[in-house]
Amino acid sequence: MVKISTLSACAAIFMTGLASPLMVMPRQEDAPSSGFDSNTSQSPQLTALKHALVEAPGYGDRQGILLPNPPDASNITFTFINNTVTGNTGGTIALSTLNNFPALIGTNVAMAVGFVNPCGLNVPHSHPRANEFLTVIQGELIGGLILELNPGGFGEVVGEPSPVPGPIPQVNVTLSNYKGMLFPQGETHFQFNPTCEPALFAAAFDNSDPGRTQIARNFFSNMPDDVVLSAIGGAETIDASQLAQLRNSIPTPFAVVIEDTWREALSNLLLSYCTYDGMILRV
Ligand SMILES: *[C@@H]1O[C@H](CO)[C@@H](O)[C@H](O)[C@H]1NC(C)=O
Ligand SMILES: *[C@@H]1O[C@H](CO)[C@@H](O)[C@H](O)[C@H]1NC(C)=O
Ligand SMILES: *[C@@H]1O[C@H](CO)[C@@H](O)[C@H](O)[C@H]1NC(C)=O
Ligand SMILES: *[C@@H]1O[C@H](CO)[C@@H](O)[C@H](O)[C@H]1NC(C)=O
Repeated sequence: MVKISTLSACAAIFMTGLASPLMVMPRQEDAPSSGFDSNTSQSPQLTALKHALVEAPGYGDRQGILLPNPPDASNITFTFINNTVTGNTGGTIALSTLNNFPALIGTNVAMAVGFVNPCGLNVPHSHPRANEFLTVIQGELIGGLILELNPGGFGEVVGEPSPVPGPIPQVNVTLSNYKGMLFPQGETHFQFNPTCEPALFAAAFDNSDPGRTQIARNFFSNMPDDVVLSAIGGAETIDASQLAQLRNSIPTPFAVVIEDTWREALSNLLLSYCTYDGMILRV
């Protein structure tokens, strides 16, 4: 009963969230006349611009290529689009890297703006070439980081401590109101929206080509099966058919954390719910 009243409160908050004043306008036209956005990575002009910039020997040359028509700054502007509404997903990320924003070529920065729906999970991942500094601008997220600290992590190394089994320590923190968190280069981390309202973050990277490695998908892609089965403690833990099933069900970057029993119980209402810390949230 307590849970149900929490549910209605949450649903009410979520509805208010729909009327949020923070709405990003959809883009009007293609780059470069209006600047770049997260949807321009396929255009032939963009490919040509990238090659020209890579071949330019110095910064002066690159600036001449990017800004031939002062005061027009279109080639150094990027519009991050809120496309949270696409499908029933946990959220979306608008990312600018040298791949879709050539002006970043020759710099050491990239940027992501993330729109995370209620219960949305930006699944455990790492950036092989960049540190990330993520700040929550609207709503609330939990940032989680698996520490590199892992006694004996290299195995049985002469003169080093022996490997210790069990989970590697994790730190996590609730981020809201412009609170930021550092996710060091190459380390496994995730963000989760534990509330009924959408959340928004901005994240800076110190590399224009940060990359992203999905931890679960990457691990379960190892072949043959015995590699994965041995790495997780032997075939008794999981059999080959379960493994095949797992490989095909690993989500893309965003997942929605849903409690199956509640989904079933509430399916008549054609709504999805998730639970977090005993609270029921509507998705
Ligand atoms: C994104 O847009 C949707 C639909 O317009 C809106 O409900 C949501 O609040 C927006 N999210 C953010 C973080 O601005
Ligand atoms: C990106 O471009 C495709 C193809 O033109 C279009 O269908 C899609 O709606 C665009 N997405 C955004 C976020 O503008
Ligand atoms: C952007 O760069 C390209 C390549 O140099 C150039 O042709 C184009 O005019 C530039 N756009 C603007 C608006 O200056
Ligand atoms: C935070 O970390 C602890 C372990 O360090 C874990 O038990 C807990 O579930 C984590 N909380 C979240 C919200 O991830």
